Amino acid sequence: MKYPGLKGVIAAETEISHIDGVKGELWYRGYDVRDILEGATFEQIAYLLWNGNFPSDDELVRLTSSLKEARELAPYMQKIIERLPRNMNMMEVLRTVMSAEGVSDYQWKPTSEQAIRLTAIVPVIIACRKRMIENKEPILPEQSFNHVENYLYMLSGASPTKAQVNALESYMVLTMEHGMNASAFAARVTASTESDMVSGITSAIGTMKGPLHGGAPIGVIQLLNDIQDAGDPSAVLQKKLANREKLMGFGHRIYKTHDPRALALKERLLPFMGNDPWLDLAIEVEETAIEMLKEWRPNRALYTNVEFYAAAIMKAIDMDPQLFTPTFTASRMVGWTAHILEQAQNNTIFRPESHFSGTPRKLPQQ
Ligand code: COA
Repeated sequence: MKYPGLKGVIAAETEISHIDGVKGELWYRGYDVRDILEGATFEQIAYLLWNGNFPSDDELVRLTSSLKEARELAPYMQKIIERLPRNMNMMEVLRTVMSAEGVSDYQWKPTSEQAIRLTAIVPVIIACRKRMIENKEPILPEQSFNHVENYLYMLSGASPTKAQVNALESYMVLTMEHGMNASAFAARVTASTESDMVSGITSAIGTMKGPLHGGAPIGVIQLLNDIQDAGDPSAVLQKKLANREKLMGFGHRIYKTHDPRALALKERLLPFMGNDPWLDLAIEVEETAIEMLKEWRPNRALYTNVEFYAAAIMKAIDMDPQLFTPTFTASRMVGWTAHILEQAQNNTIFRPESHFSGTPRKLPQQ
């Protein structure tokens, strides 16, 4: 096949983001993410991705309060969360409950208000379901907290520390958007049929759920746990490479140098270093693994990807591993909704061709 997985095919024009895999750059609306990350809040960067420019003070206040006002779940949504079988995982819960949000006021065309509402409710659904599974009462949103702080608060009922909020906020900002990845494409394809925004998001969540897309940080935790148990990073890494196993958290389809998101997350982990031997181990493993990858896969440019430090950040803030992909979903909701809004501005339905590789046949003559 000429373009398996549409690799190398340009499927849309976009002004939302751009990735340069050779230079190791990711731009949001033309800005290098590393230049805008310092001190950036979830709300500011969501505004930038949705609208194309940074908010004025008034616009930021309006967006922050709209996100807060939109946090409440309708009683029927809470009932659905309660009644879904306990063995449904959080991504399956999100896909089902987000889909139930799609009542009649979500018809074509999609709006910014809908993007805000859908972004606001994801952390609420996750926290509500998590507490129910633990046989605990859900915690109501705290109106004085912004989006990220409130998410952490609703999970535990405790006010998070500034370091915890900063770490998660950096992660969520850095993973909000990433070009024409599989889930953004799925969202755009669904929107292109003039379907509603909730349907676009439901397609995207189903796509994100697959382990080839949203599931790698758990593999990183496993790798680091194995190394911690064995006590010798080189021996564990060597054995995996000799068995031709992939090292989780290394390599990327597009980045052929350091993933800029991994570099930025690593910086954000510095406040946690020294107190947690597990994080010190992560740094040591990164250095050893990169050296060993150069030796074992000399023709490949294999460096740390975002998932390696995403796992470390999640571990540092004590996030349950079951919530890694759902938390990624909570941040990517901004990118998906931005893509749906952009698709709607100048829409053409996606309808690629396929090549028939079967055999022409005729029914036998009677
Ligand atoms: N560890 C060891 N070797 C690796 C590797 C890794 N993490 N990633 C790629 N390679 C090697 C492959 O074995 C292959 O070598 P070969 O051609 O000699 O067999 C070569 O590099 C190309 O691998 P391939 O899987 O085709 O690269 P890709 O660009 O299509 O895949 C990933 C990119 C991300 C799927 C791949 O690097 C990977 O599986 N990484 C681990 C999982 C992970 O961290 N995923 C999160 C991504 S954000």
